[in-house]
Amino acid sequence: MPEPTSTDPVAAMRPRLPSPLQQVEDERFSRHGVRLLLKRDDLIHPDLPGNKWRKLAPNLRAAAGRPVLTFGGAYSNHLRATAAAGRLLGFGTIGVVRGDELATRPLNPSLARCAADGMRLLFVDRATYRAKDDPGTLAGILRTAATDDVYVVPEGGSNAPAAAGCAGLGRELRGLADVVAVACGTGGTLAGLAAGLGDGQRALGFPVLKGGFLAAAVRDLQEEAFGGPTGDWSLDERFHFGGYARTTPGLDAFAEGFGARHGLPVERVYVAKMLAGLVELAAEGAFPPGTTVAAVITGQEDGRAAGAAG
Ligand SMILES: Cc1ncc(COP(=O)(O)O)c(C=O)c1O
Repeated sequence: MPEPTSTDPVAAMRPRLPSPLQQVEDERFSRHGVRLLLKRDDLIHPDLPGNKWRKLAPNLRAAAGRPVLTFGGAYSNHLRATAAAGRLLGFGTIGVVRGDELATRPLNPSLARCAADGMRLLFVDRATYRAKDDPGTLAGILRTAATDDVYVVPEGGSNAPAAAGCAGLGRELRGLADVVAVACGTGGTLAGLAAGLGDGQRALGFPVLKGGFLAAAVRDLQEEAFGGPTGDWSLDERFHFGGYARTTPGLDAFAEGFGARHGLPVERVYVAKMLAGLVELAAEGAFPPGTTVAAVITGQEDGRAAGAAG
């Protein structure tokens, strides 16, 4: 465990920044004159990989040692990353988990890991969970948690500090790619990425959830974090493969194949869908010859908790 420093305990966790950028040879792109780069954010930190680091680090600084309370589903990557950060930096964590029926069942591997890292788990019914952004409901959750001086991070970790943190991803890619692709859940990563890119670069988001709500969410986050719309970004809503944490045999085979070919385990809930979308777009001729596309590897495949998400 790194020794926290009085100046910046978060930096003392030694993130690998800027994250590595790798060129890969893949004829599904090269035959269209497209160069493919992998932005390996999955290698930033073993316990806070990918966008988890970029989104949590500014929030942990803002929390300044107070306990952090946040939200997630039973397999939430975000809950696991928050719990791990609490263990590494020595602050308390409270995880509000969707589904009060889980309280009486043995913890799944993902929640067991949160608990082992010292996270206090608070199971709430689904109606309460849905209403968690309502101030009265949140106040009730804080009362149940019997704590008031906590720092609250929203579900998925996407808030203004998180979007500002993800702008660093865009800045690291300035001048290095024409198009930067990222998988989207709550939109915080895309909101920040687009803000950080330079002139002439564009960000392309692949939502893994159905519902068409994401563009508004990204606009709201940019408004909150940067005071208005920033950067050139768009969404391709075709590659959700049935919705959140859903997959198809074709997508599984694609992820296996891509991982074997390029030597990285491909995270299934988000990253695989973005990569499959890019292959399809290249085949459609969406990228003119000479385009450099950077695909952001936002997370690691986690064998410990199949279906991990959030
Ligand atoms: C691996 C991975 N990629 C992408 C995302 C999507 O990020 P965001 O919710 O900021 O859109 C997530 C969720 O946080 C994730 O766990």
